[in-house]
Amino acid sequence: MHHHSHNRATLGGKLSAVLVAAGSSVGLGNIWRFPYVAGDNGGGVFLLIYIGCVLLLGLPIMLAEFAVGRTTRRNAVGAYHALDRRWSFIGYNSVLAAFLILGFYFVVSGWTAEYTVHSLTGELASLSTAEEYAAQFEGFISNPWRPLLYTLLFILATHAVIALGVQKGIERSAKVLMPLLFIILIALSIHSLLMPGAAEGMRFLFRPDFSKVTASTLLTALGQAFFSLSVGIGTMVTYASYFKPETNLRHTALNVTLLDTLVAVLAGVVIFPAVFTAGIAPSSGPSLVFITLPGIFNGMPLSMVWSTVFFLLLVVAALTSTISLHEVITAYLHEEWHLSRRSAAWLTTLSTAALATLASLSLGLLGGWRICGLTLFDALDFATANILLPLGGLFTCIFVGWKLDPERFREQLSNHGTLRCRIHGLLIFLLRWVCPVILLLVFLDNLGLY
Ligand code: PFF
Repeated sequence: MHHHSHNRATLGGKLSAVLVAAGSSVGLGNIWRFPYVAGDNGGGVFLLIYIGCVLLLGLPIMLAEFAVGRTTRRNAVGAYHALDRRWSFIGYNSVLAAFLILGFYFVVSGWTAEYTVHSLTGELASLSTAEEYAAQFEGFISNPWRPLLYTLLFILATHAVIALGVQKGIERSAKVLMPLLFIILIALSIHSLLMPGAAEGMRFLFRPDFSKVTASTLLTALGQAFFSLSVGIGTMVTYASYFKPETNLRHTALNVTLLDTLVAVLAGVVIFPAVFTAGIAPSSGPSLVFITLPGIFNGMPLSMVWSTVFFLLLVVAALTSTISLHEVITAYLHEEWHLSRRSAAWLTTLSTAALATLASLSLGLLGGWRICGLTLFDALDFATANILLPLGGLFTCIFVGWKLDPERFREQLSNHGTLRCRIHGLLIFLLRWVCPVILLLVFLDNLGLY
C-alpha cells in the first residue's frame, strides 16, 4: 500500500492549505446552522460557550488531525491504520460520518441552489409576508421532485470538482470561491446593520443570558463547533495528507479557526437584525434563513440583487464543504479499496445521492417514516453533529495525546525542527486531559438527562 504516498498530489501555493481547509470549515454550518442553533439556545450565551469549545477543543483537535494526516499522507482510514491498526476505527467513523452528513447537507445545498434561481427570476420578490415565505418554503421542501432536482444538480457540481482532482479541482475552486464569499458576507453585514432591528439583533447575538444554559446547550455548542470546523471527522486528516512539508500547521489551524468563527459571527450579524426587523422568533429552526431573509430583502431597494447574492453565498459556502466531505470518502475508496480515483468518485457520488434522495423525501412524501421520532433528515443531522463528531473528536485526542509518539507530533508541529514551537507541551496537555475530560463530561451529562 506504500506506493500511494510516493505519487500523491500536493497542494501548490502558500495560502492553499489555509484556503482548502477553510473551504471545508466555512459552510452551511456557519451561515445556515449556526444562526438557528444559536437562536434556539439563547443567542449571546451560546456564542460564548461556542467560542470556548472552538478554542479549547476544536483548535487542538484540528492540529491533531493535521499531524496525523501529514505524517502518514494517507486517507482517514489508511492514516490511523498506518500509525496503529487498532485505531483504524477512528477512520471508519470518519468515513461513515462524512457519508451521513452528505445525506442531509446535499439536500440543504439543493435548497440554496433553488433559492438562488428563484431570487434571480424574481419569484421570491413577488411574495411579501413572513407567512407567505413560510408557506413557500414548506411547499418547496415537501414537493417530491423539485428539491431533488436541485440536490442532484448540486451533487453533480461537487462530483465535477472532485473529478478534476486535488490541485485543479479542490485547490483552484477554493482560491476563487473563498475570497468571493468574504466579499459577499461583508457587504451583507453592512446592509443588515443599517436595518431598524439592528440594535435588538446585536443584543440578542452578543449579550449572554446565563439563565438559558443547560447540559444540552453544552453538547449543542460542542457539536456545532465540531461540525462548523469540520473536525472529528477525518476531513482535516485527508486534507493535511496533501499539505506540503513546509506548511506551518499551527498557523494554518489558527487561521482556519479564526476565519470560521468570523464567518459564523458575521452570519449572525447578517441574520439577527433581519429577524428582529421582521418580528420573527429567532428560534424558528432550520427554516430561519430560508423564511426570514427573502422577506427582509424584499422590503429593500434592489431586493433581487441582495437575495440572489445571499443565496449564491450559501451555494459557494456549501460547495467547498461538500467537496471536502466527498474527498474523505473518495480518497478512502481510492486508496484502501484500490479503485481508480474515477470509480471511487462515482461510487461516492451515487451512494450519497441515494441517501440524499431519501433524506429529501423524508420531509414530504416519506414524512411518516420516523427514527426515534425524527425524520431521516433530522436524524442524520442530530446523529452526526451530536454523536459521531464528538466521538470522533474524543478518540482523536486520546489517540494523539496518549498513543502517538510525542516526538512524531512535535516533528509535525515544528516541521522537523525548522520552526520554533513553544506550545507543544500545552497542546499535549489539552489533548491528554482537557479535551477528553470535557467531552466525556458533556456526553455523560447528556446521557443522564435522557
Ligand atoms: N464545516 C462544514 C460547515 O460548517 O458547513 C460542514 C462540514 C464539512 C462538516 C466537512 C464536516 C466536514 F467534514
